[in-house]
Amino acid sequence: MKNQNSRRDFIKTSALVTGGMLTSPFIVPGAYAAPENHLKLALIGCGGRGTGAVFQAFETGHPIKLVAMADAFRDRLDNSLKPILDKYGAEKVDVPEDRKFVGFDAYKHAIAEADVVILATPPGFRPSHFEEAVKQGKQIFMEKPVATDAAGIRRVLAAAEEAKAKKLNVVVGLQRHYQNNYRETIKRIHDGAIGDVIGGQVYWNDGGVWVRERKPEQTEMEYQMRNWYYFNWLCGDHITEQHVHNIDIANWVKQSYPVKAEGTGGRLVRTGKDHGEIFDHHVLTFTYADGSVIHSECRHFPGATNRVDESFQGSKGKVYLSAGNHGNITDWKGNAIYTHNRDNNPNPYQQEHDELWAAIVKGEYKFADAENAAKSTMTAIMGRYATYSGKVLTWDEALNGTVDLFPETLAWDAMPKILPNEEGYYPHAIPGKTKVI
Ligand SMILES: NC(=O)c1ccc[n+]([C@@H]2O[C@H](COP(=O)([O-])OP(=O)(O)OC[C@H]3O[C@@H](n4cnc5c(N)ncnc54)[C@H](O)[C@@H]3O)[C@@H](O)[C@H]2O)c1
Repeated sequence: MKNQNSRRDFIKTSALVTGGMLTSPFIVPGAYAAPENHLKLALIGCGGRGTGAVFQAFETGHPIKLVAMADAFRDRLDNSLKPILDKYGAEKVDVPEDRKFVGFDAYKHAIAEADVVILATPPGFRPSHFEEAVKQGKQIFMEKPVATDAAGIRRVLAAAEEAKAKKLNVVVGLQRHYQNNYRETIKRIHDGAIGDVIGGQVYWNDGGVWVRERKPEQTEMEYQMRNWYYFNWLCGDHITEQHVHNIDIANWVKQSYPVKAEGTGGRLVRTGKDHGEIFDHHVLTFTYADGSVIHSECRHFPGATNRVDESFQGSKGKVYLSAGNHGNITDWKGNAIYTHNRDNNPNPYQQEHDELWAAIVKGEYKFADAENAAKSTMTAIMGRYATYSGKVLTWDEALNGTVDLFPETLAWDAMPKILPNEEGYYPHAIPGKTKVI
């Protein structure tokens, strides 16, 4: 696959998203033929985010019925269904036993029951679930990141093309694209408010996330599936799982994707048996085709200074952005060019559903988020490849990488490729030695 990271390609890709009212032959069959008809929703991956996304779908106020759920584990499905049923009741939540699907193949069955699907498993499964949802012709909300390695990205890019051809709306939970301060500020950057964007810094530095402890009765596969954050075939490392949000903002601002990554990373403070193979810090520079350079930094160090935001410098001024509704543009003398009003901005997790479902009920084709999401996820994966290997990597080398982390077989008694040593510690990448592509 060749690098197509020109600014022209980026604009072409995102034009559909912002361009709006493309008419489409797509209408959910019979959606409003009778008052009792609802759009049928299926949730695949019934964890914290998937459950939240179902709430947000219902809060759009459109006639939606949750008809099917799929999870690898029955307890997770039950824990998700209960609060949804408690809040929205049997009229909106109709998930009988024969539409509760459990296990590795559950997704196919749940997707088949629905008009619209929410894909919210750990990202390692996103390529196969997205492919299936597109194959079955469904409208799609899927969470970021959209893969954990280059092979997965190539599958998502191919399925994204098929989704476009079928005019299926696809919204991805890179919710900053649905957040006012980002939209308003980045629009002004693209209109030239800071001149040419020469450099920037993007950060996700915080104390880290949950650990799900090993239980004696678990097989190795179950343990890794439960404690998925710490295994690359499932998570992609925190540079992919979290920092993709900030890296994606750099790509959005630059209207392109980097051509080269180099950096350093490792495990300094999070080194236990519970912590699988992922690093606790990555520090990189991403270079774009025009020579501009973005500094990217993500770390999980409890007790150290937290920082999650993005800054960019241009020939005429600079900008500061954050998920806390910041959007401040100033010239180099410090004069304000734009200061986003931080009051009363809609919640972007709700906004992305409001916009998606409004398009679906009107039979409009408006959203094609998958390609950008795949390329921003690929940027993060390229960062991981660079810190793990200690090598400078080009986009083309990274995207064409053939190392496959996925288990040969998905079954509870099958072995993942990464296994602990006799003391229970997992091997992790050693920069300079590890082969990543
Ligand atoms: N946009 C955001 O800000 C945001 C916030 C949180 C999470 N997320 C993303 O949402 C996704 C889920 O995260 P979460 O926090 O809900 O995790 P979670 O662990 O709470 O939920 C994941 C669920 O998927 C299930 N699952 C795993 N493999 C499956 C399979 N093959 N088929 C069906 N179900 C399977 C798990 O059992 C679990 O119930 C991740 O990709 C994460 O990055 C996005």
